[in-house]
Amino acid sequence: MKKLVALALTSVLATSAFAFPVKPITLVVPFPPGPTDTVTRQLAEAMRKAMPGATFVVENTSGAGGTIGANRVARADADGHTLLVWHIGMASTANLYRKLPFKALDDFTYLGMINEVPMTLIGSPKLPANTYKEFEAYVRSNGGKLNMAHAGIGAASHLCGLMWQSAMGLKEGMTTIPFTGTGPALNALLGGQVDLMCDQTTNTSGQIEAKSVKAFAVTTSKRLSDNALLKDLPTLQESGLKGFDLTIWHGLYAPKGTPAAVSKQLNTALQAALKDPEFIAKQKALGAVVVTDKRVTNEGHKAFVADQIKKLGPVIDAAGQFAD
Ligand code: MLT
Repeated sequence: MKKLVALALTSVLATSAFAFPVKPITLVVPFPPGPTDTVTRQLAEAMRKAMPGATFVVENTSGAGGTIGANRVARADADGHTLLVWHIGMASTANLYRKLPFKALDDFTYLGMINEVPMTLIGSPKLPANTYKEFEAYVRSNGGKLNMAHAGIGAASHLCGLMWQSAMGLKEGMTTIPFTGTGPALNALLGGQVDLMCDQTTNTSGQIEAKSVKAFAVTTSKRLSDNALLKDLPTLQESGLKGFDLTIWHGLYAPKGTPAAVSKQLNTALQAALKDPEFIAKQKALGAVVVTDKRVTNEGHKAFVADQIKKLGPVIDAAGQFAD
């Protein structure tokens, strides 16, 4: 009899040890509503389909270019119920911040990459320029008087601004105005409080379509030829900034020490979500491309971020003179 009870107990313990999720899963977005938030809410919907019965809650924890939200997850219980959706900031902040409360490659469990997103250089309708050439000429002669918005040191919009000003070799850098995210930054641009910004198409497409901002260029190495709205925007490369190539990417993370079975289950749900036609279509409509290669695996994701940290080091050093 005793043996039977022991057997029953082990099997109960075994299953309860891997009963996951046992409560809502929080997806931390390290910015207020804006491009990263949009990607996360669309992902949550697709992962919900892949994990029937699971509840996903999106929580915006902003500040310091996304590092406050990232640290919130790095310090959370490693039980798979608190996850982080973050972008290239995982790699840019590793280079830009001398002291971070977490280490990108040590303090997270890598659950897989999500997407790649181009960036657009946009400006206020008041700017006396309609093409990128006119815009760059105006910036070169009025740089010191112009305000460029971004989402904090290490944010994608900040990195883009650094790289663009450095590539132009601007003598006098623009005044850069940090916001908690490019959602609020875009509102400030629409309200005339700032002159320009470099931001993800997931945030700017709507305003470009509505012609409430001027779009001057894309940051990718090739034109977005399959995007009806953005296909005629020149790349910064073809506009004379040799080798300029910036594509933003988003990944999914849990705290280090998350049980392997939980990490596997979350990665399986993520990979199913990335194959969801509805999610793919929604991302495409905003100019984003869902990842389909080995970076969707735990190992592939971590290897990619390690490589990005290495690649961004010299880029940021070269542009560092514009760091706030
Ligand atoms: C960024 O600039 O890092 C992002 O666009 C921030 C955001 O999602 O608000």
